[in-house]
Amino acid sequence: MAGKQPQKAGWTRRDFFNWVLNVTMGVIALLVAVPAVGAAITPAFARSKPIWIRLGLASKLQAASLAAGTGGVGSVVKASYTYTALDHWVKQPASDYAYLRYIGGSCPFYILSPICTHLGCHVDWVPSANQFHCPCHGSVYTIDGLNVSGPAPRPLGVFRWKLTNGEVWIAREDTFTGAWERQGESPRRPCLMVKQA
Ligand code: FES
Repeated sequence: MAGKQPQKAGWTRRDFFNWVLNVTMGVIALLVAVPAVGAAITPAFARSKPIWIRLGLASKLQAASLAAGTGGVGSVVKASYTYTALDHWVKQPASDYAYLRYIGGSCPFYILSPICTHLGCHVDWVPSANQFHCPCHGSVYTIDGLNVSGPAPRPLGVFRWKLTNGEVWIAREDTFTGAWERQGESPRRPCLMVKQA
């Protein structure tokens, strides 16, 4: 009658070579994977520097805003621009727009992001209502971008901007979406004009 094969105690030479092989493969995989993973995720976590984008000649934008308004008071105009977008680590040309209004004074332009603060749809400027309306879920913003109804949790982003050689530039990735200063009863819109050094 065939008996059970006796179990071998301890490691065989084959076990030892398998162990050495596995450890070596593991070390090689780590050496390859760590730099690759680091290179892949670094762009996602790096704090993006503001990218300055040219919006157009200040005189033209001012004239367009005044033409859209009445009685020398500027209204909202759509200012389109192109830029280089990073889409899944691939750079490609893209276009977007900002909503700009000439308001005069020491901070003559007020420039809003069109991105709804609910889920990111582009809002529409509705001149007849003097408001921005979001086509996705109905959020409504005042001409200053303050959210007044619908699910939007915050005002529209306000672009930092600067004037260089007569042209308006916006910091595309660096909009202000924080709380507005309150002045009495009415919230005061922030002026985000960046002074030139
Ligand atoms: S994305 Fe604008 S209301 Fe939802």
